[in-house]
Amino acid sequence: MTQPVSIEFTELDLDAIAEFEGRVAVIIPPSGKMDAAARRANRLTKGALKRLVESEGWEKAKSGDLTTLAWPAGMAAKALHVLCLDRGASALETRKGGAALAKSKGEDALLVLAAQVRRGADLAQGIALRAYAFNERKSQPPKMQGPVTMAVSKPEEVSDAAAPLLSVAEGVLMTRDLVSEPANHLTTVEFAERIKGMADIGLKITVLEEKDLKSLKMDLLLSVGHGSVTPSKVAIMEWSGGQKGTAPLALVGKGVVFDTGGISLKPAAGMEEMTMDMGGAGVVVGTMKALALRKAKANVVGLVGLVENMPSGQATRPGDVVTSMKGDTVEIINTDAEGRLVLADVLWHAQKKFKPAAVLNLATLTGAVIIALGHENAGVFSNDDAFCNKLLKSAGAEGEGAWRLPLGEAYDKQLKSDIADMKNVGGRPAGSITAAQFLQRFIEDGMPWIHLDIAGTARVSKDTDFAPKGATGWGVMTLNRLVADHFEET
Ligand code: BES
Ligand code: MN
Ligand code: ZN
Repeated sequence: MTQPVSIEFTELDLDAIAEFEGRVAVIIPPSGKMDAAARRANRLTKGALKRLVESEGWEKAKSGDLTTLAWPAGMAAKALHVLCLDRGASALETRKGGAALAKSKGEDALLVLAAQVRRGADLAQGIALRAYAFNERKSQPPKMQGPVTMAVSKPEEVSDAAAPLLSVAEGVLMTRDLVSEPANHLTTVEFAERIKGMADIGLKITVLEEKDLKSLKMDLLLSVGHGSVTPSKVAIMEWSGGQKGTAPLALVGKGVVFDTGGISLKPAAGMEEMTMDMGGAGVVVGTMKALALRKAKANVVGLVGLVENMPSGQATRPGDVVTSMKGDTVEIINTDAEGRLVLADVLWHAQKKFKPAAVLNLATLTGAVIIALGHENAGVFSNDDAFCNKLLKSAGAEGEGAWRLPLGEAYDKQLKSDIADMKNVGGRPAGSITAAQFLQRFIEDGMPWIHLDIAGTARVSKDTDFAPKGATGWGVMTLNRLVADHFEET
């Protein structure tokens, strides 16, 4: 597993600025007003910073912009970074500033002179989120990440404020690792092992094996894994940080460790991307890790359906009719619409077993959501405006894109089957919505529910504000905030 970069908080030592090897960062507001640390760096570099803030370029500088002076004279450092950051910068802006620093830091040690920064904890979180690379599958991984030292005015206070934020960042990193892992390494067995490892941080872990799933009648989920040699599993993570007896929030994730499409085989081009088809489960696991590490005062249960969708002589055929745990029958028109089959049974089990206050599921469910929203926003579907607005607000506050799409009876009709209670596909029009309609059939009346289609946001092909290209961990920050703001006792 990727280790988060080490971040230490110390008091400002002006004399250390000249001697620090690695990289040094100063923070200057758009006004150009320098604090003691910046003034010292300016003096050491014979006025370079003064010339910078008096330059035409600085006039145009926006909060969050980063300027780098390489091999500054008068300092031992490799580079002097100047982060332009408003004194009144929001948490999100401050985090983006931290991320910009982490991006330029590479593997070097970094000294951040942050005594003037109001939100030092957010700056630290931004650094922790962006100082990430997936090197687990390289025979010669790059040398250890150099540590980060943040010189702040009240180290203990900032360190205490940063602790929960760094816990959340650790959750995000775990999600990214899971999403990045290839399917020969992250089998359902290995996935369940990593989840079991989280018992260490106080989570109660249960893994349901195929025989358990058979007795629970989760035949829809089992039908997806029939073609694979890696066994189907459901892993359950319980965090009971709230009052005893308070109904939990249930988080449910699609964990298809590889999606070939099954007998409805996908085309070869791009099929390798389907290692990320466990992204929903990855976010559930990362969120549970964040909640446990920061000891959230809430009851939350995470359930993930772990399966592999492979073609074989035992695989489910197009046209097969399978009975769900709920009891409804499904005509499987296309074995590539497998995520909804997995989720249907896990959603049903989550409601029956845990009687949750609300249910939220995540899945890399449809290619159609990428056509609709690209990689900027996850698709949001809900039967409950109040619950949905809370989620949208949390996503907005964390800078994670989320956009609500409609549900409706007319879409539901597209799932009508001639021989069973429903089909698993609704045709080409509104493919993401009919997938959501399918899931809604497995939500009990009156249960507040949100479905997040993260096919476009779980992994992206260019850098984002907080992650290098690849797995983003989209959703962990949002779900953590949703819990903090609406499910946690104060
Ligand atoms: N895992 C895919 C969806 C997906 C596509 C995720 C691209 C990430 C990137 C899902 O299981 C799938 O194959 N969906 C089909 C549904 C169709 C058969 C109705 C799709 O989107 O084409
Ligand atoms: Mn599929
Ligand atoms: Zn899939």
